[in-house]
Amino acid sequence: MAEPIKPLAARYYTDSQVFWLENEGLLAHSWQFGCHASELTEAGAYVTFEIAGESLFAIRGHDEKIRVFYNVCQHRAHQLVSDSGVKRAVVCPYHAWTYELTGELRAGPNINAVEGFDKSSVCLTEVRAEEFIGFVFVNLDPNTETMDEWFPNARAELSEWVRNWAELKPLTWVETLEKCNWKVSVENYSECYHCELNHPTFAHGVVKPQSYDVQPQGKCLRHTTQCQNLEDMTYDIHSGFEHYDEYSSWFLWPMFSFQVYPGNVLNTYHWRPIDVDHVVVWRGWYSIGGVENDMVRQLAKQDRETTVEEDIHLVESVQRGLRSRGYQPAPLVIDPRGGVKSEHSIMHLQKWIRETFDEA
Ligand code: FES
Ligand SMILES: [Fe+2]
Repeated sequence: MAEPIKPLAARYYTDSQVFWLENEGLLAHSWQFGCHASELTEAGAYVTFEIAGESLFAIRGHDEKIRVFYNVCQHRAHQLVSDSGVKRAVVCPYHAWTYELTGELRAGPNINAVEGFDKSSVCLTEVRAEEFIGFVFVNLDPNTETMDEWFPNARAELSEWVRNWAELKPLTWVETLEKCNWKVSVENYSECYHCELNHPTFAHGVVKPQSYDVQPQGKCLRHTTQCQNLEDMTYDIHSGFEHYDEYSSWFLWPMFSFQVYPGNVLNTYHWRPIDVDHVVVWRGWYSIGGVENDMVRQLAKQDRETTVEEDIHLVESVQRGLRSRGYQPAPLVIDPRGGVKSEHSIMHLQKWIRETFDEA
């Protein structure tokens, strides 16, 4: 008889050394959200962001392509740009070396005086980047597989669920600090074994809990469910698109999730770890052209006051519990048939977590 599977040991969530290893390993070798492509409106428009402790910037070229570079000058390592803005070229504030939007060195004061200086050998260090239904993801690992290999079918499915993705722009970001390890929050997001007891609005409103399931699709965890009581929805879901009467979500390991609410309303989760026991959850809400939209604002508010608020208390209690000497992990509830009363999704997540340490 097979042994039941036990959850990860508590130290994975409480040990600063583990957190440090994740920064070097997992964050630097996985697809991470950088920015929304709509933030880069014209050639030379750029935004900065940080991944795995590295400052990076995304910039749109004259060829419209978005490239992502390490935010460091190749001369004597000064930072190149900060915040966001528009540049005709990237000029380093230290000694004014100037780079093209494609990263090549264009000029530098008096560099022609240097015999044998090959300008074409100097270029900003580019990072793997992909646009994924309007979101820019980056991977610091140059040898990694594409997002379509990591998350098979997710792009095609999302394009079907969010037909108008190319017109969407961020409307608002709702940030919530949770006093827990990021994995506690991600695990909580990834199972609905706790939903019926803890999410009355979610479980008795839209979703039909007995049909809820989460299954792996490559390194994506795909949430599917049937809906109920759609006639009681607080907003008009008749978008005119297919799948308008469904709820669906695509969690992209390790720290991002796309959710689509009935009415084809896209919203996102981005977990931004601060330290071993703090994470900020960024909820993204979108509208056509980013213009004011009462319905989306109302949904964002309702979500913050219900599901998000209910989860904070759960994850923070778990984090305190993981620090208890009295916690001896008992088996996960894994039902071979899957379904809402099963934690098979946690088993998959924890397998991926273990793998990142085995590979390190
Ligand atoms: S460090 Fe950038 S120009 Fe000198
Ligand atoms: Fe929850």
